[in-house]
Amino acid sequence: MSDTDITVRKTEKLYEGKAKILYATNRPDLLIQHFKDDATAFNGQKKGVIAHKGALNNAISSGIFERMEKEGIHTHFVARMGERDMLVRKVAIIPIEVVVRNIVAGSLAKRLGKPTGMNLSTPVLEFYYKDDKLGDPMINDYHIRAFGLATDEEMAHISGEALRINQWLINFFDSVGVQLVDYKLEFGRTEEGTVLLADEISPDGCRLWDKQSGEIMDKDRFRQDLGRITEAYEEMARRVSGAR
Ligand code: TMP
Repeated sequence: MSDTDITVRKTEKLYEGKAKILYATNRPDLLIQHFKDDATAFNGQKKGVIAHKGALNNAISSGIFERMEKEGIHTHFVARMGERDMLVRKVAIIPIEVVVRNIVAGSLAKRLGKPTGMNLSTPVLEFYYKDDKLGDPMINDYHIRAFGLATDEEMAHISGEALRINQWLINFFDSVGVQLVDYKLEFGRTEEGTVLLADEISPDGCRLWDKQSGEIMDKDRFRQDLGRITEAYEEMARRVSGAR
């Protein structure tokens, strides 16, 4: 869909999350995902605002989704609509946060007592139950099956896609001088039952380290009060938009 085809407009607000708002549109099959500057960490215990984050994350996420679509990775992305809005296909989000790790950091370093920065010999997939009240507890395939969160067929597809996406994202970020440490993906079902990559791919949900300097270029700057947060997001937006 080209920009000129878009006659879609927001109707009612469906859901407000910590960093985004989801709107219905005049089209039953399309939603608008609005990116806010609000930032939270540690399951909402730390709250703040990262100036211009909404626009930057929309640009970064749209740039990545657009490229993925061209490479045959199916996402909910339809078009970027102005600064802070993304037009997306309507999906029902599967309540599983899929974390993919290539390098030890964050909760994995803590949980297993391994050094931050250690390369993993093979990517690690983890699943978390998407429920803020419970603090997104870790789950496995058995919980997913027992509680009917997704079918075995859907999980086989999601795991396969996550690994395929991982290979693509590692190469993409490498091409712009960034190491992809770990990140979180969410998937959704269309009304026809197709599973698509949804949500966003931005420095809010990824750990990104500059390949040369090792500098942190993601939301860990906010989590750890490292300063120059907007600057890091701006630099990521510049690199994504300049990628070949
Ligand atoms: P973790 O090390 O805290 O488990 O986080 C792993 C990755 O997942 C990291 O890149 C941040 C991302 N993430 C989210 O996007 N949302 C979350 O709620 C959590 C816990 C992690």
